[in-house]
Amino acid sequence: NKIVKAALLGAGTVGSGVYELVKERQEDFPHICGTQIEIAKILVRDASKEREGIPSELLTDNWKEIIADDSISIIIEVMGGIEPAKSYLLEAMKAGKQVVTANKDLIAEHGHELLDTAEQYGCDFKFEAAVAGCVPIIQILKQSMSSENITEIMGIVNGTTNYILTRMTQSGLSYDEALKEATDLGYAEADPTADVDGLDAGRKIAIMASIAFHSRVTFSDVYIEGIRNITAKDIFYAKEFNSVIKLVGIARKDEDGIEVKVLPILIPQDHPLATVNDSFNAVFVHGTASDDTMYYGRGAGKRPTASAVTGDLCTVARHIVEKHSNLHVCSCYKELPVKNIQD
Ligand code: NDP
Ligand code: HSE
Repeated sequence: NKIVKAALLGAGTVGSGVYELVKERQEDFPHICGTQIEIAKILVRDASKEREGIPSELLTDNWKEIIADDSISIIIEVMGGIEPAKSYLLEAMKAGKQVVTANKDLIAEHGHELLDTAEQYGCDFKFEAAVAGCVPIIQILKQSMSSENITEIMGIVNGTTNYILTRMTQSGLSYDEALKEATDLGYAEADPTADVDGLDAGRKIAIMASIAFHSRVTFSDVYIEGIRNITAKDIFYAKEFNSVIKLVGIARKDEDGIEVKVLPILIPQDHPLATVNDSFNAVFVHGTASDDTMYYGRGAGKRPTASAVTGDLCTVARHIVEKHSNLHVCSCYKELPVKNIQD
């Protein structure tokens, strides 16, 4: 029985979700990716703190112990921030480990350096969860739409602000009350300023623009306005105009170049984006051949984000198995009866 070992860096909202989901899906992994997957170590700041559902012997605050362990072939970074995450991931790639991350701060600022290093050392480097939670928009832009001439991306890509605006609009909550709920639900960043001031959405739109336009768009290229100054009065007037306020990220390309921005806008109630509520995200992509396509799903929170990270983990584990065995893993393994619904 094959087993691929991974280390988690971080056991917060996302890390604990990934640990839980890997355990939950354990039986199916050998069929999906040709191997069992074991979370062998978990890096945290405070290894003495008890964490529900996580055996304490897996916890460590010592990165060196993880990087030196040759039995660990995948590093899953869900601790956030630029440093030490960046140094750890570069070190991991140079040591021949495969890398999965949910860290948009890092990708938006140093994605190209990480991608170049991954290519140089022949490593997998996956970051689906960095944009729009469980919506597989990175895969869509990188693969399914790779031949498209994409000219515009527009979307609601921050769950926290969408949750706040939804609660202010539908339940009359104050901005502060709604932000507290979003934080308690695990949607907000460690510093929620990144959410409410539009920085998080700015990082995500920069990542999508880079991939979609085959270009180097970084966070500093994005014009950003957040929702901190939206009041109950603004929400009231939006309703008067049969509209809702949404924080959107927009990236456009024309013959003069690329324009990337994040700002709150009025959206008419009959527009599809107006019905994207709560922590849901949605991304519109316009291509010159495909025309408009739209992708929708939970953009934040423990299980939706863990789903995207675990999907990447499976892909990377499958690549390891295929590389070592020279076999293609086929995931058609269930003998499920097909129901006859005609009677
Ligand atoms: P949390 O703050 O809940 O968890 C962070 C975890 O990382 C904690 O376990 C913390 O340890 C550990 N950690 C942080 N810094 C260090 C360090 N220097 N050394 C060792 N361990 C460290 O964050 P989230 O789980 O919410 O987010 C993690 C990442 O996922 C971020 O990049 C975030 O942007 C991204 N993300 C989050 C989403 C969400 O909905 N929350 C959705 C999509 C992406 P300790 O517990 O000991 O403090
Ligand atoms: N804080 C982020 C959000 C997490 O609210 O969208 C998901 O990236």
